[in-house]
Amino acid sequence: MLNKFEFFLSTNTIVSKSIHPHYEKALNEMLKAGGKRFRPMLLLNVVKAYSPLLVKNAMSVAYAIELLHTYSLIHDDLPSMDNADLRRSMPTLHKTYDEVTAILVGDALNTYAFEVLSETSFSDSTKIKLIKSLSKNGGLNGMVLGQAIDCHFENTPLSVDDVKTLHKNKTAKLIASSLEMGAIISNEIDLSKKLYKFGLDLGLLFQIQDDILDVTQSSELAGKTTNNDGDKNSFINIIGLDDTIKEANELSEKIELEFNSFDQRLKDTLSPLITKYINRHKD
Ligand code: IPE
Ligand code: IPE
Ligand code: MG
Ligand code: MG
Ligand code: MG
Repeated sequence: MLNKFEFFLSTNTIVSKSIHPHYEKALNEMLKAGGKRFRPMLLLNVVKAYSPLLVKNAMSVAYAIELLHTYSLIHDDLPSMDNADLRRSMPTLHKTYDEVTAILVGDALNTYAFEVLSETSFSDSTKIKLIKSLSKNGGLNGMVLGQAIDCHFENTPLSVDDVKTLHKNKTAKLIASSLEMGAIISNEIDLSKKLYKFGLDLGLLFQIQDDILDVTQSSELAGKTTNNDGDKNSFINIIGLDDTIKEANELSEKIELEFNSFDQRLKDTLSPLITKYINRHKD
């Protein structure tokens, strides 16, 4: 599935012909640089479980999520946010080009995600549900809110509960939306609600693991600037590395139990991905 998605990406270069010397190149650079593609894989595996014939048409929905996620990374790395030089094993866009390019490429990828969704082959009612999910979770009361809290409260320690809320917004909601959108495509509406709740826990774990990796992985291995959370409300800064690992272990056990309550079709399809990711802090 990952190979199919990478092939789709490689054949879908964003086109914007103009007199600008590097705008088009910069639009494609971070997208094509790679990344784990965790969110597209979640969506595509849900579709594969319930309506395998729709996987091909779902590629562009998975692409839309990756577009929005990639925009969030480009902005996250800006000097005014996390000030990071490395992303997906490449210099960040504001390093290669300039800040204005990174800001505008982020803006373009964000809005292009919704253009792509509006042009998918699904019914209008499905498309509206997909657009609603991605905009709600990636936007003002989702990822953007999380990023606002993350940056505003630098060097101001929050309670563990507030850090969980921060992590749910900046990271978990988009991961939950990826699962939800897979169920929307398959017209499994009850399942979409259950998967969304499951995705919030999975996404919280994903960000806690990311906090762990910031202190345990080299930039080279992570492909992004690590050791960069000194001012942040990361789990490590609030409760320390040992307790963060304990928290991650407990949450991964809870997620495994929740996952086992899904039907066999979903378990068969999604299990390798879930197993890999709920254990990734143990590597
Ligand atoms: C990084 O996301 C930002 C977080 C929400 C932790 P990923 O770890 O999924 O980054 P890529 O997509 O693999 O580059
Ligand atoms: C970023 O969290 C979450 C986003 C919405 C992009 P981080 O700031 O921890 O992500 P990394 O570690 O830079 O990838
Ligand atoms: Mg950040
Ligand atoms: Mg960051
Ligand atoms: Mg991080």
